[in-house]
Amino acid sequence: LGYFTYDPGFVATASCHSAITYLDGDKGVLEYRGYPIEQLAEKSSFLEVCYLLFHGELPNEKELTDFDQIITTHTMLNEQMKRFYSGFRRDAHPMATMVGVVGALSAFYHHDEDIHDPKHRMITAHRLIAKMPTIAAWSYRYANGQPMVYPKNSLDYSSNFLYMMFSMPTEEYTPDPLFVKALELLLILHADHEQNASTSTVRLAGSSGANPFAALSAGIASLWGPAHGGANEAVIRMLQDIVDSDNDVAHYVARAKDKDDRFRLMGFGHRVYKNFDPRAVIIRKTCLELLEQLGPDNQYQELFDTAKELEEIALADEYFVKRNLYPNVDFYSGIILLAMGIPLNMFTVIFAMARTVGWISHWNEMIADDDFRIGRPRQLYLGSEPRDYVEIENR
Ligand code: CMC
Repeated sequence: LGYFTYDPGFVATASCHSAITYLDGDKGVLEYRGYPIEQLAEKSSFLEVCYLLFHGELPNEKELTDFDQIITTHTMLNEQMKRFYSGFRRDAHPMATMVGVVGALSAFYHHDEDIHDPKHRMITAHRLIAKMPTIAAWSYRYANGQPMVYPKNSLDYSSNFLYMMFSMPTEEYTPDPLFVKALELLLILHADHEQNASTSTVRLAGSSGANPFAALSAGIASLWGPAHGGANEAVIRMLQDIVDSDNDVAHYVARAKDKDDRFRLMGFGHRVYKNFDPRAVIIRKTCLELLEQLGPDNQYQELFDTAKELEEIALADEYFVKRNLYPNVDFYSGIILLAMGIPLNMFTVIFAMARTVGWISHWNEMIADDDFRIGRPRQLYLGSEPRDYVEIENR
């Protein structure tokens, strides 16, 4: 096969050096800048995690206050962007809108040389982290034919997002502290995950020196697929189908094992985690706590019970055990989002909002790296031998 290593899916290829996130798939370990995800989930806030991922250290009080203020100053979108939204069909998937809107920001912030200036890279990161909740919430408002709500900068990051999503001009809206806490947790857990498909996409797109907003938009497109961030939406559709089938969990497990059926258990399996996904453990616990707080008659309990039954059956099944297939981050996160009143098609959008800091931190790290060069994988050619052009009348 010649000079190149054949590695479809990049199962055994390290494409870069990175000091941002560490994964040990056999032990179920995830660390941001060396800090265990369990500790960050319990003690930190999403903005603090953003600072940590981008700058490499936890901020002190003043650094965090300053960072919070800087992010706040960038939450607005250029007023012209409203017209960009109105170019989309009302029933467009909010992920489609997000790909377009984030890509369009490259028209507002485009200075070729700036990417080599660390200060400008930092401003780009601030802009993206700050604007994503506004972009996300506006996609939702537009899809519903509702007026866009401007950010209210007296609110914290997560409350501001919920405010832009749900507040109405006719009534006072105060985000439920339970939901704010749950959203903060989900944002922290989704903030980075080393060289996953979307992050690798941002790196590859950005490696040509492309505009970072355009590179981020490529990452959002990659995240949308059901094998990646789109899985959180697909999990709920699957659980709902199971509930509607009189809870025939065994039938869905059998389908997932059938190699003639394309169906897979959504929210199950991971390229790196071969023991358990530490994010799934935290999310399952949070999901259970949230549902308990909503009371025994909450309308999401049935989905949770079905998910739990599915997990139990699958984990006792030789097919899943042999292949090390466990629930991943997406398995229980959707139930939390549903319970918060977030519609299904916004799930992956929220994932993108959280992952933005990871994407831009990796882009920043790549540009600053001494080994930085354009990404350019090779191939093993399997096509035709050289042959002569045949005139069209002779074919
Ligand atoms: N249900 C049934 N079988 C599965 C599943 C599943 N969810 N996942 C993997 N397998 C089987 C697969 O058929 C293969 O079997 P065999 O060895 O007999 O051919 C084996 O397990 C290995 O699977 P793979 O597709 O080679 O593994 P991968 O590392 O390429 O894919 C994955 C990882 C996450 C794409 C895959 O497990 C999957 O499609 N899961 C469902 C979608 C999902 O939940 N995605 C979210 C991933 S975590 C969050 C994120 O990345 O955004």
